[in-house]
Amino acid sequence: MPLERRSWAEPFRIKMVESIRLTTRAQRERAIEEAGYNTFLLRSADVYIDLLTDSGTSAMSDRQWSAMMMGDEAYAGSASFYRFEEAVRRTYGYKQVIPTHQGRGAEHILSRCLIKEGDVIPGNMYFTTTRLHQELAGGRFTDVIIDEAHDPASPHPFKGNIDLDKLKRVLVENPRRVPYVCVGATVNMAGGQPISLENLRAVYALCQRYGVLVMLDATRIAENAYFIQQREAGQAGRKIAQIVLELCGCSDGCTMSAKKDPLANIGGFLAVNSKELADAACNLLVAYEGLQTYGGMAGRDMEAVAVGIDESVQDDHIRARVGQVEYLGEKLRGWGVPIVMPIGGHGIFLDARAFLPHVPQEQYPAQALAAAIYLDSGVRSMERGAVSAGRDPVTGEERMPKLELVRLTIPRRVYTQAHMDVTAESVYCVFEERKQIQGLRMTYEPKLLRFFQARFSECSV
Ligand code: F0G
Repeated sequence: MPLERRSWAEPFRIKMVESIRLTTRAQRERAIEEAGYNTFLLRSADVYIDLLTDSGTSAMSDRQWSAMMMGDEAYAGSASFYRFEEAVRRTYGYKQVIPTHQGRGAEHILSRCLIKEGDVIPGNMYFTTTRLHQELAGGRFTDVIIDEAHDPASPHPFKGNIDLDKLKRVLVENPRRVPYVCVGATVNMAGGQPISLENLRAVYALCQRYGVLVMLDATRIAENAYFIQQREAGQAGRKIAQIVLELCGCSDGCTMSAKKDPLANIGGFLAVNSKELADAACNLLVAYEGLQTYGGMAGRDMEAVAVGIDESVQDDHIRARVGQVEYLGEKLRGWGVPIVMPIGGHGIFLDARAFLPHVPQEQYPAQALAAAIYLDSGVRSMERGAVSAGRDPVTGEERMPKLELVRLTIPRRVYTQAHMDVTAESVYCVFEERKQIQGLRMTYEPKLLRFFQARFSECSV
């Protein structure tokens, strides 16, 4: 009998392993209470399967580890920097490469260089650190993503697309007040959703007409390119590397967290085409990050990033990476668990509003759900809803986003299919018992990026 479908497998085998520990329910009850119901405040030793983030949590390859031994730790003019610079230029195509310690370092420098008090920065949905740096520089972020992105159930294949009418309106209404448009590829907060090549081309053409720069957040651009290859008309036969290069060609520069797509544990960069902008950035760089040939990274970090960049745009790598995320998502969907559709590139996003309809958004349903999943199995996820959205800097009001999500984020090349099965089963068990989950109230609220350190207690306590 012919098989209905053939399986695919990861394009690697495992040569080093790291033990993880299964805890008891009583241990987890103690741990989550001590952590103030915030999964960011758990100790990793108390976590079984860690799906908090895909940031800096990837498994490096044998090629990356051996390249690290070649790290040149010279303070200035390190050979490792030149290998890093060459990898960035070859893969993304920008002329000027400015190293930073991680993505937010690049966001800080870019925001300080381009934004003046009162400026407006349109983007396809906010990201936490990106928006904060825009606000700290005196700017105001405005969302111009298509409406479908705010609807967890919409099946639109490119929910990261920019609504060109919304963007045009912002450009017309704010002459000389828009320094650049910030384009995420993919869009993290929407569920790892991609922007299409066609849409980015149109955004770039529109911005050129208005003399406004386009800056990519290229943190997960290889995943974005994979969705273009799979979903966009005329793109099926192209290599991921070619699509990545073309995406970057529709922009004037990018910020990058090398902790995601580029498979490194630390690192990042700002890359631009303008020499003038690069010079301005390097002026700030020496104050905040380090010299222009290391920017906060050790020589060995730059070696790991250089090799990781090459590996990140290999077709077989990215297919297995996104394929593993799809495997988990399809399993949950099959059991009727409400997740953001289509399945995104770096994780599964549970729709906490649909999951816990009895918990009002003021009681942080996504935060409560992440805690409940941890309690069930020791799987660590994170909140991406009202807690992450924070407060409006002008009015001080809490921002209540349409999307109230829990993210199960998959580190690259780290977990097996069995880990995905255990995770899916845990989420399903919590779903079955969902009526017992109650809301939370915040007992400690930090001023900036509150989701990292906020503390909560159960509403009934
Ligand atoms: N842009 C996006 C889209 C991100 O997802 C992140 C980090 C950054 C910028 C900032 O980069 O962490 O290197 O400073 N996202 C992590 C996450 C923290 O878990 O989603 P960084």
